[in-house]
Amino acid sequence: MGNILETDLAGLKLDNPTMLAAGVLGLSRKSLMRVGNAGAGAVVSKSLGIEPRHGYENPTLVQVEGGILNAMGLPNPGIRTFMQEIAESRLNVPLIVSLYAFSPREFATAAHKASAMGVDGLELNVSCPHTIGTGQEIGRDPERIKNIVESARKVVDVPLFVKLTPNVTDIVELAEAAERAGADGITAINTVKAMAIDIETSKPILSNRIGGLSGSAIRPIAVRCVYEIYQAVKIPIIGCGGVDSWQAAVQFIQAGASAVQIGTAIATKGLSIFRNVNEGVEGFLNRKGYGSVKEIVGLSHRS
Ligand code: SIN
Repeated sequence: MGNILETDLAGLKLDNPTMLAAGVLGLSRKSLMRVGNAGAGAVVSKSLGIEPRHGYENPTLVQVEGGILNAMGLPNPGIRTFMQEIAESRLNVPLIVSLYAFSPREFATAAHKASAMGVDGLELNVSCPHTIGTGQEIGRDPERIKNIVESARKVVDVPLFVKLTPNVTDIVELAEAAERAGADGITAINTVKAMAIDIETSKPILSNRIGGLSGSAIRPIAVRCVYEIYQAVKIPIIGCGGVDSWQAAVQFIQAGASAVQIGTAIATKGLSIFRNVNEGVEGFLNRKGYGSVKEIVGLSHRS
């Protein structure tokens, strides 16, 4: 019998539908290997830029009810240094490199550099909710998304995913623009713009004041976004935002996701979350009599 959990993202074969979301664990070869060994079907790096970047001063992260609020400011060693770190030997699962940049031309340069060094896919971060000149500042406009994706598409052959922001009136028009411009898939969603205040000092807790909320608190928003995007595009969708159990993963898949990314839940549940989600999804498929996870992608649209 074949692997019931195997899924396909624009030609990229994953042994199972769980992926590491772009974030803190995605900067070293060792940690990415650990995530692969823990059962993830693919891993996504932390967002990388052409130049190294220091990020914001602490505090950059605070635990809040239902999740984590962060504003790190895209700290990273730069594409070249990261790729040298990874180049020692191939990872045990497909590697998708997340990229941010400040213009379509810079996205093309970053995409070309990363793909030339050998990656399995790229994820364009046009959705960080709090960084000047990049992220959602450029990713809230369908026309700018089109220009960014077209520029990157021209220079790379590897699967190109676009990670969208929920901090808009209509995420569907962003997904449609990405698809028209040649994206191979959509990642939905990045964090929800949010803040927390320390009432004793009356000050915002994060040094950047505003950050992005992740975790179970945003799951219903993310599921709704995946559901709406699925109705509008044909390219695969990767669900992201509050995947902390197999039940949450099944919700995303039934809404239309071909795979799900896990990030915040690692902080509370550890890396065993990947195996637990996979075992739970497999048990669900068996119990319901499905032969493949692909059969339930978008099922809620047909029920
Ligand atoms: C950060 O580095 O501040 C988070 C990146 C993101 O939200 O995309």
